[in-house]
Amino acid sequence: MSVLKITGGRTLSGSLRVQGAKNSALPLLAASVLTEGLSVFRNCPRLTDVTATVDILRHVGCRVYEEGDALYVDASGPIRPEVPDALMRRMRSSVIFLGALLSRCGEVTLSLPGGCELGPRPVDLHLAALQNLGAEVTQTSGRIRCAASRLRGGNVALKAVSVGATENAMLAAVRASGSTVISGAAREPEIVDLQEYLRACGALVTGAGSSVIRIRGVEKLRGGEKRILPDRIAAATYLAACASAGGSIRLYDASPRDMVPILRVLERMGCAVKTGENLIVLERQGPLVSPGPIITRPHPGFPTDAQPPLMAAVLKARGSTVMIETIFENRFRHVPALRSMGADIRTAGRTAVIRGVDSLRGAKVRADDLRGGAALAVAALAAEGETEIRGMEHVLRGYEDMAGALTALGAEARLTEKAE
Ligand code: EPZ
Repeated sequence: MSVLKITGGRTLSGSLRVQGAKNSALPLLAASVLTEGLSVFRNCPRLTDVTATVDILRHVGCRVYEEGDALYVDASGPIRPEVPDALMRRMRSSVIFLGALLSRCGEVTLSLPGGCELGPRPVDLHLAALQNLGAEVTQTSGRIRCAASRLRGGNVALKAVSVGATENAMLAAVRASGSTVISGAAREPEIVDLQEYLRACGALVTGAGSSVIRIRGVEKLRGGEKRILPDRIAAATYLAACASAGGSIRLYDASPRDMVPILRVLERMGCAVKTGENLIVLERQGPLVSPGPIITRPHPGFPTDAQPPLMAAVLKARGSTVMIETIFENRFRHVPALRSMGADIRTAGRTAVIRGVDSLRGAKVRADDLRGGAALAVAALAAEGETEIRGMEHVLRGYEDMAGALTALGAEARLTEKAE
């Protein structure tokens, strides 16, 4: 088991390159299955979720290899329309292979990981979208099978905003016969990244970033090249770390334009934030104050993935901060561990109220999910003494070498392995 030990009390300083976005890399890699060619993904983050996705690509018949920070995927050979449970179970976002394999092979059989740490994680919106495009869906004992001799374009009206369902609908539509309009689409920057890759492969798709995406189906797609956009949540996490610990850091290869609500919250907390084209500089010298209410929303609102690390950053902020989690029903699992470090947090349903305390103390805590684990590290930087965070394998799913990154910024952090 991976354990991160952090001794708090040191301010941060220095520069850090922002990794490629996990939530763009995963759908992009799955989308490469649609092409009869070689795709190149640059700035691909080194994450266990990426490794899990590559294992699925290899299982279905793609040849995958890396050179430097680029990942090459050759999907020109025959592709198998099924993914075994063992590979599906390793991460929630493998559901993106539903649309990719259905679109390439005309059928797909896979199991869907059930609920996860954030709540039930249903896929009804995904299945409804695929059925709108002509797929027949059957479910037998945890396995889902979708089939369509040829997907046909149509209107996909998503009843609720879903990043994954939007992505699956796009992948199913780009090679369907006819035109598709996806309304109620998610507007995340990662959706725009997916559109840019698909266009590089010859797909006819426009509108990503708005709530209406228009697609004209094409017969085949060639391989394409794409530089993966910066990870706005990883960037938010390290900015929260500096707000928590104090000091001044510089993030380069960042995308400040995708992070406006996060940067506004940090400024309201008392941090000085300067931005350039791909640069964010944050400085926190004086005491932190409550930024006022934080309500998570689909993009361009405050992102749910930044809620845990920003909660950790306000633990010692003067005043009370109300945080309302509107996207997932169980995304406060990091609260008990933060309380064991001396935080004053009360939760009721999807609302948390954080009252600023004068000090936090190091403790032995366990990460239960990816962003919750990151929150524990952010809090540990501002705590007196040593914090030991078990369950870091959750965090390594989405953060490249967090111990190395924090150490590079002046923190006392080291990752160790412990027998279970
Ligand atoms: C993506 O998950 C991200 N993951 C999540 O990041 C992120 O929190 C989420 O979008 C919201 O922004 C990836 O991109 C790999 P949704 P996704 O479908 O697509 C409900 C992280 O920490 N819903 O937008 O699974 C769902 O239960 C991860 O990096 C349905 O009801 O999220 C949730 O309440 C965590 N039916 C809400 O919609 C469906 O068919 C939003 O989920 C699908 C979703």
